[in-house]
Amino acid sequence: MGSQRKSIHGQWSGRLAFILAATGSAVGLGNIWKFPYITGENGGGAFVMTYLLCIAVIGLPIMMAEVLIGRRGRQSPINTMRELAADAGASRYWVLLGWAGVVAGFLILSYYSVIAGWALAYVFRAAAGLFTGLTADGVQSIFHDLIGEPERLMAWHTLFMVMTMIIVARGVRSGLEKAVRFLMPALLVLMLVLMGYAWNSGYFEQGVEFLFRPDFSKITPNAVLTAMGHAFFTLSLGMGAIMVYGSYLPDRISIARASVAISIADTAVALLAGMVIFPIVFANSLDPGAGPGLIFQTLPIAFGHMPYGAFFGMLFFILLVFAAWTSAISLIEPAVAWLVENRGHSRVNASVVAGISTWLFGLLTVFSFNIWSDFKPLAVGKFADMTLFDLLDYLTANIMLPLGGLLIAIFAVWKMSRASTVDELNMGDRFFYPLWRFLVRYITPIAVIIVFLNAIGVIDMKG
Ligand code: TRP
Repeated sequence: MGSQRKSIHGQWSGRLAFILAATGSAVGLGNIWKFPYITGENGGGAFVMTYLLCIAVIGLPIMMAEVLIGRRGRQSPINTMRELAADAGASRYWVLLGWAGVVAGFLILSYYSVIAGWALAYVFRAAAGLFTGLTADGVQSIFHDLIGEPERLMAWHTLFMVMTMIIVARGVRSGLEKAVRFLMPALLVLMLVLMGYAWNSGYFEQGVEFLFRPDFSKITPNAVLTAMGHAFFTLSLGMGAIMVYGSYLPDRISIARASVAISIADTAVALLAGMVIFPIVFANSLDPGAGPGLIFQTLPIAFGHMPYGAFFGMLFFILLVFAAWTSAISLIEPAVAWLVENRGHSRVNASVVAGISTWLFGLLTVFSFNIWSDFKPLAVGKFADMTLFDLLDYLTANIMLPLGGLLIAIFAVWKMSRASTVDELNMGDRFFYPLWRFLVRYITPIAVIIVFLNAIGVIDMKG
């Protein structure tokens, strides 16, 4: 079985290694930083239900498609798409999908690194005991001091990009496997400690209700698009990250089982984060729709009031940085793999080239929070209030990833031969394979297209 191709970048040591690495990619700022703040901005329960539905019906089947394409091709997404398109007798323009992924990864990492920089800064603020006894006001002023100064943000952004370049230069396998194996469980334990605090805040019920009680009158077409976009973002889908990790996956391993495990772990971390943050939000009369600063304005209150808060706070932000780190690596890996395969770069060279360009582009995000905070380049409709950071986030998460995922799905079931997908997925011809094929062939593409059209305003599902 298998395509007989081998990856020149090496392979994972086994099933657990792949699951850990892919979970490391999936679990990141998306779960702990982004999920709570977009849930807050979009009114809670109904948004969360939509997101969960998108994970199950769109995310999971597309993850399987992306991993199987990666393992079939065993190269960077660009070369994989070129070869598989040739194998399938499909248009050679499918290679553009690989390119679009490299661009999306570049754009996402450019702002991801800036936010990861905030987390880095907070490691030291927590360790220094700066949060002890602080009220909501004090915590907010610490946050605004940080993002208001471009030099500081730039310094933390630089540090995070350097950390990422170092790991990527050494190769995805060495280090990463070991780190994730230990860090993921640690992150989970710490989240449970925080949940203990939220539990005792007196507002746990209210927080959980906000998170899980759907009020569908609050949901807008744009919220549905955001929920779907986030399903792609949080599972690292639609740009080739999971494809490239799939290309290092040994032949005998079940793609379906691994994908289910990754999706469940990822969703669990996001929901846990929500259950920690919202009780704190309500206990302190904060605004759930505060935006990208939400976790940085809520969690420090908890750390400031719990026993050993400085220690737990430091540990939490260290783990958050690690979670972001293991995600950042996967955002840049498609570009690096391509530079190594096609441009003859060494891994070190490729990492430096890709890292420095991403860093430079990240300055747009750095300035979005201070000197350019009033610069709203698109003066039309819902874009009128968006800074460069907001626009980058919208373009990548809400447009590029769903579109990339849609094309990945179409390629896997409409272009590749049935025999090759049966062979890669290897889940019997009885029930699960036909179910997957049906979902990816019809349900997923139709769902993505409907959400798009609805958000553009071409159709009106509520009208
Ligand atoms: N999934 C990561 C998170 O939730 C971010 C991420 C890593 C990502 N690789 C990706 C997002 C590829 C989209 C595509 O933080």
